[in-house]
Amino acid sequence: MANVVVVGAQWGDEGKGKIVDWLSERADVVCRFQGGHNAGHTLVIDGKVYKLHALPSGVVRGGKLSVIGNGVVLDPWHLLKEIESVRAQGVEITPETLMIAENTPLILPIHGELDRAREEAASKGTKIGTTGRGIGPAYEDKVGRRAVRVADLADAATLEARVDRALQHHDPLRRGLGIEPVDREALLEALRGIAEQILPYAAPVWKMLNEKRKAGSRILFEGAQGALLDIDFGTYPFVTSSNVIAGQAATGTGIGPGAIDYVLGIVKAYTTRVGEGPFPSELDDADGQRLGERGHEFGTTTGRKRRCGWFDAALVRQTCATSGVNGISLTKLDVLDGFETLKICVGYDLDGKRLDYLPFASEEQARCVPVYEEMEGWSESTEGARSWADLPGAAVKYVRRVEELIGCPVALLSTSPERDDTILVTDPFAD
Ligand code: IMP
Repeated sequence: MANVVVVGAQWGDEGKGKIVDWLSERADVVCRFQGGHNAGHTLVIDGKVYKLHALPSGVVRGGKLSVIGNGVVLDPWHLLKEIESVRAQGVEITPETLMIAENTPLILPIHGELDRAREEAASKGTKIGTTGRGIGPAYEDKVGRRAVRVADLADAATLEARVDRALQHHDPLRRGLGIEPVDREALLEALRGIAEQILPYAAPVWKMLNEKRKAGSRILFEGAQGALLDIDFGTYPFVTSSNVIAGQAATGTGIGPGAIDYVLGIVKAYTTRVGEGPFPSELDDADGQRLGERGHEFGTTTGRKRRCGWFDAALVRQTCATSGVNGISLTKLDVLDGFETLKICVGYDLDGKRLDYLPFASEEQARCVPVYEEMEGWSESTEGARSWADLPGAAVKYVRRVEELIGCPVALLSTSPERDDTILVTDPFAD
């Protein structure tokens, strides 16, 4: 397989960082195609911890080309800081190793301000629980045709015109929220100030990727967030503002959909969610507390405590379908060690009717009562297991049942944050 897309199959935080790093060793190009620095990818390599938000995970491996595609929204000030911080850890980043699509929309300070002001003004029930990083407002400006894009940084007159168009929209909005009008000169000055540092990385990414593909390069498309946060197929409106599902790898980079050879869904052995919104299998008890503690469930980006619950097979079956997942990587199985009994949500009861998917109507979602199947737990440790033989029988049964319920095979099984603690069933890059 030449090109692999990795997507989170739940609400994000499934452990994509480790798997992407593992796969990036086999790839020539690693490409982000949606989201922004709302993402938080933690990589542990030889005991060294790298925390990435905007940069593709491939940057920490030498000899790879890292790409930020047009489907991403990019905060250039944040990016420059992130580049500095990984450089300080000994990682080399140059225009030869990092490319940013010229048509990538920028996240400006005004987007973060609007994001946070709206969240503050929202009443209970309408708050989204965003990361406050301006992701939603930046995507709104993109589809509203008033974004400032990377290529606009190259020309002073174009930059001014783009900023003025954005401000025509933002100033009235800010007035309504009680925020000062934008300081146009300061914003332009700040943009001019970073232009020279950003532009060397700007490139026609669509062209380069298509050429690389023809030349036989292996491309890894690195998804951020999770499919249940997808703007179309997620738990709307409690979602992020981009398409997260695998099809976005094509539109978010400029490669045709036929160029995608394998979709790997990253699935945590239980469920977590940060921020507001429905979560049918959420646990508000000692079991939920225990999952959070054992799984260190705190957000990489915001430090917020993640909500925890049992594995929801109905939701993952849904996301495997909408992303065309070929195989999954099951992560954090070891967090389930020591539970006497485990539960898996297999569907919902809606007013006496059994559903095998979560409907979109919010008031129906609220009435959906999860239907659980119980499984025997295991007392042995699975942490660090590197072969099926290292796993207790009950753990193998749990994994097999997950496969059956979601209708998708396990390609990789991850048993600790260390990259070698992985059981390989199918190599997504294998021919
Ligand atoms: P936004 O992407 O900052 O607009 O936030 C929208 C929703 O997506 C909120 O519920 C966030 O907590 C959630 N979210 C955004 N990025 C991530 C992520 O990388 N992992 C998990 N949740 C995320």
